[in-house]
Amino acid sequence: MKYRKFGKSASEVSEIGFGAWAIGGSWGEQSDKDSLEALGTALENGVNFIDTAAGYGDGKSERIIGEFLKSRSEKVQVCTKTPPAPGKWPPSPYCKIEERYSEKYLRENVEERLKNLQVESLDVLLLHTWTRAWNDNPSALKILQQMKSEGIIKQIGISTPEHDQNCVIQLMRDGMVDVLQVIYNIFEQEPAAQLLPVALETGTGIIVRVAFDEGVLTGKYRGNESFGPGDFRSNYFAGDRLERGVRRTEKIKKEFGESGYSMPQLALKFAMSHEAVSTVIPGIRNRNQALQNTAVSDLPELSNEILQKLREHSWNRGFWYGGK
Ligand SMILES: NC(=O)c1ccc[n+]([C@@H]2O[C@H](COP(=O)([O-])OP(=O)(O)OC[C@H]3O[C@@H](n4cnc5c(N)ncnc54)[C@H](OP(=O)(O)O)[C@@H]3O)[C@@H](O)[C@H]2O)c1
Repeated sequence: MKYRKFGKSASEVSEIGFGAWAIGGSWGEQSDKDSLEALGTALENGVNFIDTAAGYGDGKSERIIGEFLKSRSEKVQVCTKTPPAPGKWPPSPYCKIEERYSEKYLRENVEERLKNLQVESLDVLLLHTWTRAWNDNPSALKILQQMKSEGIIKQIGISTPEHDQNCVIQLMRDGMVDVLQVIYNIFEQEPAAQLLPVALETGTGIIVRVAFDEGVLTGKYRGNESFGPGDFRSNYFAGDRLERGVRRTEKIKKEFGESGYSMPQLALKFAMSHEAVSTVIPGIRNRNQALQNTAVSDLPELSNEILQKLREHSWNRGFWYGGK
């Protein structure tokens, strides 16, 4: 496992981190036994960064991680997230920051994160999520900075809203965040335009989420699969979305079939290929996935030729002029 500098801190994080959404719920059946085996295997293979959130199973993911880490001697950084107080998700352009992230709410919510994780301070706390409407008056980030100076949080930041990831660029330049969590994968390459270069310029840590586009970029789907009603993928892949994702993935598979990389390996290596990226956090829900995903760090880097060719597979899903 290789390690990279992480944000504004002196610490380093593993290139492959542990995405802990599914171990909290919303991804179909998940046993705690599988979750604990996945966490143990990931740590044994060099992972020192885990990403969770209040919202993953209403704190369940955090509680499993907190209990698990108590029994381990490895030094692991955990990133967790505070959602805005109840209201529109994602926050609308008309939401008031003082109503969604008041100081009282933020402090109480952080208390709950500390309790679930069984720690006295948080390594990373991200706001989950944000609207550009708050950029010129980021009062919530100022409150978090105050909590940082009190020693309650070590690094602060934002998990980008997927419809407007670039809204955080101003905040990096204004020195308001240490770390960001962004979607960056073979389909979603837009962050390469400005977000990632500005992260490099400002020394902002970058956590890459959804490197497999919620599973489709692993290349294991045929397009006719269905997900249970409690599984968030029944919504994400609603209608013909899975089929369309599979069609595009099949083209990538065919083009890179001789490259020596499997689809999961290609997807993870792509996500970690940008210099601005600190860690990529594939969702991991069992021992096998922990073994496969952690092994990717030590594989040879993608050649420039492969990286150039992968650029052709970016897919702007909000672009109606391009047709369906
Ligand atoms: N801030 C946010 O709003 C936000 C949103 C999404 C995610 N995240 C974070 O980012 C992490 C990663 O995103 P994600 O988990 O949503 O999606 P992802 O990483 O794109 O996909 C993860 C899923 O792919 C499957 N998988 C994992 N490794 C595999 C392998 N080697 N081969 C085949 N299948 C494999 C697993 O599901 P199956 O076994 O069921 O196929 C796994 O749950 C999350 O866990 C969470 O920590 C944050």
